[in-house]
Order: sequence, then structure tokens, then C-alpha cells
Amino acid sequence: MMFSRSSSRFFQCARANSSRNPLQRQQCNTHIGQWRDRVSVSDLKPAPRLASVSSNWKELHAESLRDPEQFFGSLALERLKWQEKFQVVRNVDMNKGHLEWFLGGKLNVSENCVDRHANSHPDRPALVWEKDEPGDTEIVTYQQLLEMVCKIANVLKEFNVHRGDVVAIYMPVSPMAVATMLACARIGAVHSVIFAGFGADSIRSRITDAGAKVVVTADQGVRAGKTINLKQTVDRAVDGLSLIETVLVMQRTKADVPMKHGRDVFLDEAMLNALPWCMPEVMNSEDPLFILYTSGSTGPPKGLLHTQAGYLLYAGLTHQYVFDCSPGDMYACVADIGWITGHSYVVYGPLSNGVSTVLYEPGVPTYPDPGRYWEMVERLRIKQFYTAPTAIRMLMTSSDTYVTKYNRSTLRTLGSVGEPINAKAWQWYHDLPGEQRCAVVDTWWQTETGGISLTPRPAGDTFLKPGMPMRSFFGVEPVLVDPESGQPLEGNNVNGHLCLSQVPPGMARTIYGSHQKYQDTYWNVHPGLYFSGDEARRDSDGHYEMMGRVDDVMNPKGHRLESAEVEDALVNVPAVVEAGVVGYPHPQFGEGIYAFVVVKEQTSESDESVIQDMRQVVRQRVGGFAAPDRTLIVKALPKVRSGKIMRRVLRKIAADISGEVGDTSTCADSSVIDPIIELHEKKFPKSK
Ligand code: WTA
Repeated sequence: MMFSRSSSRFFQCARANSSRNPLQRQQCNTHIGQWRDRVSVSDLKPAPRLASVSSNWKELHAESLRDPEQFFGSLALERLKWQEKFQVVRNVDMNKGHLEWFLGGKLNVSENCVDRHANSHPDRPALVWEKDEPGDTEIVTYQQLLEMVCKIANVLKEFNVHRGDVVAIYMPVSPMAVATMLACARIGAVHSVIFAGFGADSIRSRITDAGAKVVVTADQGVRAGKTINLKQTVDRAVDGLSLIETVLVMQRTKADVPMKHGRDVFLDEAMLNALPWCMPEVMNSEDPLFILYTSGSTGPPKGLLHTQAGYLLYAGLTHQYVFDCSPGDMYACVADIGWITGHSYVVYGPLSNGVSTVLYEPGVPTYPDPGRYWEMVERLRIKQFYTAPTAIRMLMTSSDTYVTKYNRSTLRTLGSVGEPINAKAWQWYHDLPGEQRCAVVDTWWQTETGGISLTPRPAGDTFLKPGMPMRSFFGVEPVLVDPESGQPLEGNNVNGHLCLSQVPPGMARTIYGSHQKYQDTYWNVHPGLYFSGDEARRDSDGHYEMMGRVDDVMNPKGHRLESAEVEDALVNVPAVVEAGVVGYPHPQFGEGIYAFVVVKEQTSESDESVIQDMRQVVRQRVGGFAAPDRTLIVKALPKVRSGKIMRRVLRKIAADISGEVGDTSTCADSSVIDPIIELHEKKFPKSK
């Protein structure tokens, strides 16, 4: 489906600009004239000298906030390849959540990420595919990547994908997946990558919401020695869905998979006949680049929409300076491409900077043993390494020799993302893999921000505090807001809602199909500010520490998940009447998933078999990572009079702090609470 569902000017522009009718395009561009008073490209001075960024970081940061137009405008001119230069640097209205950057500019993201480096360094590895078995590595050079991208782009065109169309990608971490994302960018199609661990229902709802017409998938995925039937899951997801015209199937294992005549095509075979060159489409800065679904505080997952130039500039800038990367470096981010970390720091950031980016297939850090990361670091001579606290906590429980037996002298920067990293895990990461000499950067950001927003200073800064992102990146101004009064909190030693009073160019522009929801969720909570949904603390030195979400978003193993997604899946089990799902502190996963469930009275099955059914249903519908770690069958759930489950109360019980359940006067029947506490304490005694 072409972008056509929103009435916002953003979408009108996206549609007009993706039109093949030049008249329509022109009409859209005329609005640039409205901001003649803004800084235009001809006013820009040369970009700030970022070469010695560690020495003048403070000054540059202040400059990025004082004059973002000069700061980011000059960087955009210098860092990106433009087919036509932009005329106006930005049009930002923080009261409305209206964000536009580099207006009038035309460029192609795939050309920036691939062609530039294929021309200057054709034989440099672009993608280093670390397949499931250690040592089974495939290298794709920038020249080869260019050919792959062009061929896939031509295949997509052959199957009727045009500029503005949405392509769903449900693939394992692989060069084909990355090339498919870039092929979409090349022809102006909008990709929607769906993490290849999601179940059929999650895929279907994402495809339907985005109006995708093509799905690109694989026969199977391979993770930690196990094969996963991706094509079968896609078949279930698109069964009877008339939207989907074509399913392209990459052959990862060459397993025998059913292919539906007239719909399913092997991608590798189609590429054999495709031309190895495809002209990059000329895209406007604010045309859509991708949609990525993420869990929000209410309702079904939201499709955050990112656009071309601002996103690319910010992904590249943060990647270079947070990780201290130079072109040609061997860099590894072990995230899956199905999450924003994979988009910004496996694909777009590193490739726009011309580094060699590792694609880590096994997913887990312990396959075949807990030395996997460090063996890979030694073998590939990795300089920068980026993972999640949950992986670090998992590795900490094993013997140090899994780390020390490998040579890690190439390592320079170690990154952490996705959830708070406790001081103990930070210290282990810093002392053991990092040999007390690497910079550890705890990076806070979100699908919404598109790129790292809070982070310690880039390498070179020797003052780091364990477990804290500490400071903001260029263009980002954090503000803590008192949730009660809605007033910004001045001074240090304060906790509050983390908001941003200045946002960088990489922010998502809207929620696909619902600009109102975008405004209400992020911009109308604390007017004039972007509201992140997180709580943070500013310590006595003015440094930031993350305190967790303030809404119903959970973060098991660093994966973002909303309570209602799991609850909705659970009620599909015939025996289940209703469910209340919350996160609870988990020593390894950071947050575990706890389901409080009411079952039908006449249920004949044993509690254990109902619980197994529940886990199975959640796996199938949402995905394996969403299956509850703890389930408690209860008689009734605490609810307010309108019927809404009081998750706040369940959260305290799950965290073993039932003494702090707080005010229950709004509970329709507070007598249900004590029996739940009793059952919980019996089934999950504190010592366990
Ligand atoms: C959490 C992931 C503490 C936070 C890039 C945020 C973090 C959500 C950190 C976004 C961190 C991310 N310290 N918490 N360094 N990084 N988070 O959209 O709650 O998948 O709002 O983006 O993860 O998750 P998302």
C-alpha cells in the first residue's frame, strides 16, 4: 500500500513526493518558502571540527544546542552525499511534535551507505557474517554489497514494488537481510523489519497495519544450533491475507519448504536473472525510510516512522563518536536487525561510516559456550563491541577463563544498550573483557529517538561512572519533570520523568497511521517537551542514571514488550478468563515476565498443564521471548471500578514488596489482594 492513510501534512507530502507526477511534487516543495527566515544552506559556516572531539566536547555540545541549524546543517553537508542540497536546515515545533530536517534536500540512503564506499574501497569488507557455528564466517565487500543491493532492488521492482510501498522483512541476521533493507531504500520503498522471533499473530498485525504488499523471509533461521521455521510462520501469518502479493524466500538452510504457486518465489533464484545495477531513487529528506513497530504504553504496537536524511545523519554521527570508529574498523553490534539497535548500529550507522560491520547470527552469547563473543573478538580483531546488559549478566556467571583465554587487545570501546546496566555488570564488562582500559559506554535511547541520546563522552573521556549514561549527545537536552506538578525539576539529586527539550534530527516523525497518537503519547504529556516514558535521576554531579519505565512497558532481556500484548495472547487459551501481566526483577533477564491468571472454574486440566498451554500460546502468537517466566493462577484480579486491572498492585506483589501496594481505595474489591499475596509467597518464596 502507498502511504495514504493519514491526513497530516507529513503524509500528504510523503505521498506527493513519492508520486510520479512532477506537478504534485512541486506543490509539496513550495512549502519550503514558508521558512525563509530560518537558516538556509547558503548561510552555513564549515562544520565544527569534530576530530579532536574529546577535548572540546563540552563546547561543541553547547554549540549543538545553541545553534542546531548551523551545527547539524554543516555536518549534513559535509557527511552526506546529496543529489540536491537542502535549502532549509530544520522546521521543528516542540509544542506539536512537528519535526522536519534538511528540507528541499534530495539523497539516497543506500547510495550513502554503499556506493560511496564501493567506489573508494571496493574490496573493504562491508558485512562480516558471523554464522551460527564459530569460524563459519562470510564476508561481503562493499562492491559485492552494492551488487546484492541492486539485484534485490531489481527483484523487488519486478514484483511490483514501487516507491512508497511497504515491504515486510522477516529474516535472520544475514547479508541478504541487510541488502534487502538497503534495496528498499534504493528504490524508495519503506521497509518494516519484523524481528524473526515474533509469532504469526504479531507478524500479521504488523503487515496489516503497514499495508505491506511483499514479505521477504527465509526458509529457516539458525540460532544457537537450532533451526527455526520462518517460512512456515509467515505462511500462517499471511494465510488469507489478500494484501500480500508476493513472498520472497531466501534459502538459509535449503530446507524443503512449501511454496505457494503464484505467490512464493525463491529470492536467490530471482536474483540470478536480475541486473547488478539499479539507479538509486532520488528521495526527499523527509520521505519515509522505514517503519519499526515497538510496544507502547497502551494499545497494539506502534509503527514508528523514520525518514531519510535526519535519521541517517544522526545514526552515522552517533556511531562514529560514541564508539570512536574510523572507516575500515572492524565493529560488532550483536543486536538483531529486528530491533532499532540493529537498524541504527548494525546497518545504517556503521555502513554510512564505511566500517566493517559484523552480523551476529546465533543471537545468544553462550553458543557454543560463554567464550563466543571473545573468541570472535580475537578472530575478527574487533575494535568496538556493542551488546545488552542481559548478555553481560549471563556471561558473568561463567568462569573468567572464557574471557581471558582470548586476546582482546584490539578492543577499544564496549557499549551497552536496552536496559539499565547494574554497576556490578558494568564493572565486570569494564574490568574483564575491557581489561580496565576500554571505554564502557552505557547508551540510553529508544526506537523513537532513532539514535543514541544519552551516553558518556566518546572515548578519550576517562571519567566514567558505572551503570550510568551520564550525559547527552549533541543536539539532545534532557529535562526531568515532576510527574505530579508537571514542572521541570531544577538542580541536582532529583528524580523525574525523562523528557527532552531539544531533540536531534534522528527522531521518529510519527506513528504510522496515527499522528494523533504520536502527539498524545510523546508530545502532549508534558507540553513543549518530548516525553520518553522513562524515569531518570540526576545525581549530585548533574549526571543521569536511568530508573526504568513509568508505564506498562516491560523490558525482559532488553526486549521491549507491553503487558497487554502478553495478556491478549493469554486469553486465547480456552481455560483462561483473564490475565494481568507485569515485569518483576530478574537476576539475569533484568526483568522477568509474571502472569497473574484467572482460569475457568470448570477447568479440568491441572494448573501445570494450563500453564504450559499458556506459554505455548504466547510463543506462537507473540514470540518465544514473551513467554511468562512466572505464572500464578488466582481467583480474581484487583481492578478499578471501570474494570481496568491494577497492574501497579500486581507489580509490587511480583517484586516481593507487597507491603508497598499503596493506596487501594480505587480498587473495586480490595479483598482479592491478600489471597494473591499469600499464593505468591507460597509458590515463589523469596529465597528462590
Ligand atoms: C530502555 C532500545 C536504561 C528504556 C535502544 C527505553 C535503557 C527503552 C537503556 C527503549 C539504557 C534503553 N539504560 N534503560 N542504557 N537503553 N533502555 O525502543 O526503558 O527497544 O525507553 O530501544 O529501553 O527500548 P527500544
